[in-house]
Amino acid sequence: MVCLGNICRSPMAEGIMRARIEKYMLNAEVDSAGFESFHTGDAPDARATREMKRHGIDISRQEARLFKKTDFDEFDRIYVMDSVNYNDVKSKASSEEQMLKVDFILNITNPGSNKPVPDPYYGGEDGFAKTYQLLESAAEQIALELKNGGK
Ligand code: 4NP
Repeated sequence: MVCLGNICRSPMAEGIMRARIEKYMLNAEVDSAGFESFHTGDAPDARATREMKRHGIDISRQEARLFKKTDFDEFDRIYVMDSVNYNDVKSKASSEEQMLKVDFILNITNPGSNKPVPDPYYGGEDGFAKTYQLLESAAEQIALELKNGGK
């Protein structure tokens, strides 16, 4: 799960996906990363942590890190939140095959739309509630795909 700061959207996506992996007892791992070093090592934004807590998921111990080239080897799927993240990931890719792993996370729920998960960082708490709803639907669908044998 990839966004810009790795303190709002992608840590929420990571937390939701991990909860789904546990719920469906999937043999899968999830992590998140960003491209802006300003928050590296930080816990998620307090508003993100609060929203997740409302849904029974604790992300307070996650730490922001930068996306790295080896993530292409470590992970089968790389989900980005918006076109900025997509281009950032693309700048690190060294083959077309690596880019085949990359997709907009909302293409899961809106195929082919390349819709962004809007960045809630500069807005109020309601933006985080919206972020949760968008990511929750996508994570549920990803989990069901994996449960049904998808890679
Ligand atoms: P995120 O939001 O990409 O969803 O984690 C942001 C958080 C912080 C910054 C940018 C985006 N920032 O530039 O500090």
